[in-house]
Amino acid sequence: MPKKTISKSKKENIGGLLHEKRKFKPSAQFSKQANAQKSIYAQAKKDPIKFWDSMAKEVIWNKKWTKTLQWKTPDAKWFVGGKLNITETCLDRHIAEGRRNKAAIIWEGEPGDKKTITYFELYRDVNKFANVLKSLGIKKGDRVAIYLPMIPELVIGMLACARIGAIHSVIFGGFSPDSLRDRINDSECKLLITSDGAYRRGQILPLKHDADIAIADCPSIENVVIVKRGDFLLRVKEGRDHWYHRLMQDAKAYCKPTYVDAEHPLFILYTSGTTGRPKGIMHTTGGYLVGVYTTTKYVFDIKDDDVYWCTADCGWITGHSYITYGPLANGATQIMYEGAPNWPENDRFWQIVEEYGVSIFYTAPTAIRAFMKWGREHPDKYDLSSLRLLGSVGEPINPEAWIWYNEVIGNKKCPIVDTWWQTETGHIMITPLPGITATKPGSATQSFPGTEAVILDENGKQVKEGGGLLAITKPWPGMLRGIWGDRKRFIETYWSKWDNIYFPGDGAKIDKDKYLWVLGRIDDELNISGHRIATTEVESTLVAHPDVAEAAIVGMPHEMKGQCMIAFVTLGGNIQPSEKHENLLREFVSRKIGAIAKPEKIIFTGDLPKTRSGKIMRRLLRDIAMGKVMGDTTTLADPDVLNKIKQRYEED
Ligand code: PRX
Repeated sequence: MPKKTISKSKKENIGGLLHEKRKFKPSAQFSKQANAQKSIYAQAKKDPIKFWDSMAKEVIWNKKWTKTLQWKTPDAKWFVGGKLNITETCLDRHIAEGRRNKAAIIWEGEPGDKKTITYFELYRDVNKFANVLKSLGIKKGDRVAIYLPMIPELVIGMLACARIGAIHSVIFGGFSPDSLRDRINDSECKLLITSDGAYRRGQILPLKHDADIAIADCPSIENVVIVKRGDFLLRVKEGRDHWYHRLMQDAKAYCKPTYVDAEHPLFILYTSGTTGRPKGIMHTTGGYLVGVYTTTKYVFDIKDDDVYWCTADCGWITGHSYITYGPLANGATQIMYEGAPNWPENDRFWQIVEEYGVSIFYTAPTAIRAFMKWGREHPDKYDLSSLRLLGSVGEPINPEAWIWYNEVIGNKKCPIVDTWWQTETGHIMITPLPGITATKPGSATQSFPGTEAVILDENGKQVKEGGGLLAITKPWPGMLRGIWGDRKRFIETYWSKWDNIYFPGDGAKIDKDKYLWVLGRIDDELNISGHRIATTEVESTLVAHPDVAEAAIVGMPHEMKGQCMIAFVTLGGNIQPSEKHENLLREFVSRKIGAIAKPEKIIFTGDLPKTRSGKIMRRLLRDIAMGKVMGDTTTLADPDVLNKIKQRYEED
């Protein structure tokens, strides 16, 4: 097991200790043409509200707002009194402004099927599907669940909801039926959009079959719309289930947009919660649009002739903000790819970059580390000279990966934007601006104009240089407006650490040049391959297995995934641990939550170390998993337990 820990020198590099001094300056050529010019920082700093106010004028409103921000912690109202429909900025305006025949989405399926959808075609399909939703009884404010692979209908579904003021809740297609059920029930979705199946690494995921299992326990679901992705077997329940293509055939071509208040909810997106129950993060319309529009424009430097590609899935916030809303609000042409980066071969992404001349590429450190491992011979086979800007998101990028990305993919000529943000923040908050900011490998650098991230200590005192907790001191337009149905948890999780300051849950440091380095979660969430997973959620799943008496999860560094999960499990009765049991329990977690939550390793133990008050001592388990010398064990009820665990771990 300790083989999977990373070497000391690499560990030191995480957080950039060896790279703080190294700066990469933007080229004069890039700076000259960049959307963001230096003055943006000074302007936004002088009057952040005015900055956002002026950005809001670049999107389409039906009625102008009367007040830019009304703020009473923790409740923000942005663009008070304004009315809009977000699809007018994403679609109608492009039809009117000369982008009618421009490619909006260039889609490639995993098996190799391709489709280009122009802005007009997207507009048409969104309008039609909005009418379909209406015909199925969906009204403003109703919740619609979307459980689809990365196919254009996913974006169409989201925008069609927005067209009629319905609230979408996209659930990542890799989630299990149980996870889907819990999310549908939490926000009482009335309709589910799914597909017969999905391709993943050449295999077929039976989405509709999984959805059937889920909705057997979802009383709020009245209708299911099924997109036909392949010829996959499925059961159709008469009256409840409808084929997308049949409904679309008869749908009217135009749907008048429903104008909503700027603060009308646009979507709910579930993120893992520290108590084990996923949190339905709620975003509203006006501020979110202004936030994603502005950050896409300046961070990705989008121009009309760019080919932009964000490799995320719309099941996560990155797909919401930087596939569906941000790029379309900017009239961009983007690539949407359905499958895995290593299908059928490890060069799939680079083949796509060459084929379509991708110019802006946004991916996750975990993917970059995988590319590094697979070897540079894969990207080297292709002409990647169309690339002009690279982005990273989802977890801290280790400097080695940053440098590899810069040299092998970017050919040392593409600025890299390491963007820090969260499901909760809605849009990018800490990032370099290409053409302006000199970057340091591993640092997300500085706050985006109009936002303010600082480092505080536990007592709320600002750290001018050194480590502490990341904090956001000013409201920003895309900020979450709550957790669906749980006001108390919203306040407790984000707003109770300090007065009037947002606590994102990350540890970070600031160096002497005022560069920010986000180091990772400090709560009981783990970030595995860029996905947030609460250890408590996995623990309670393991304990739900009849053979398990107790379980504790700890995180440890992993070379590829950033972090991984080690489960310490005590079996009940006289059950003897075996490899079979380990596999069985790992599969159990995968089935109950989804493959992303599968523990890397299960360590069976006769007991778990506890304090005298009965609390599991995770810190000690973590030390064991990390192979560290144990700290003070005097508070253990039975110190011998720990030695037994350690022994067992070392035997493995
Ligand atoms: O810990 C931070 C990490 O990912 C968390 C947010 O995860 P999620 O809500 O799933 O959104 C991911 C996509 C925006 C953060 O609290 N994180 C995200 N981006 C970075 C990062 N950590 C370091 N550097 C980043 N660029």
